[in-house]
Amino acid sequence: MDQELRSYDFSNAHAAYAELARDLRALLSGERDLIANAANTAALIFGALPDLNWAGFYLYKEGELVLGPFQGKPACVRIAMGKGVCGTAAARRETVRVEDVHAFPGHIACDSASNSELVVPLVRGQELLGVLDLDSPKLARFQASDARGLEALANIFVASLQDPRSTTENAGPEGGRRP
Ligand code: SME
Repeated sequence: MDQELRSYDFSNAHAAYAELARDLRALLSGERDLIANAANTAALIFGALPDLNWAGFYLYKEGELVLGPFQGKPACVRIAMGKGVCGTAAARRETVRVEDVHAFPGHIACDSASNSELVVPLVRGQELLGVLDLDSPKLARFQASDARGLEALANIFVASLQDPRSTTENAGPEGGRRP
């Protein structure tokens, strides 16, 4: 799939995110591996959205967020729940959109180029899987339309991990007994 050749016209954000959602579904279809699908999701988003300097995942493990697949500069590895923009979105299980990260109390500066940030929690049923984190060098880069668009992409990623008919693969710590 020639993902690197595709470009999206974000002058119509709704249409661009609809196209991106379709392409993400196609990219992840038939694969349920979390790391593989997170890596491809991060790569698709980083290549598609203008003005990003970082796009990727922090995965929830043993009570904290741990760096997962991403595109951008090397980043801090562990983030406590409630800390920074990522930990705040994870603890609240709500999307957090920050126009100026330097004005966000407790913001964790991984890349000094970042000026605005959007973090979408990844939730499957009651289970927190992690967060999808986007950084931009532009102040107020992310609009409400970006938050909705990225939430839709995050849902596609989460849905890709589990075949509802499967009770054994990628089932998490419960070993597939979750209904
Ligand atoms: N700025 C984030 C930390 C992760 S990096 O942006 C990749 C935060 O405050 O949680």
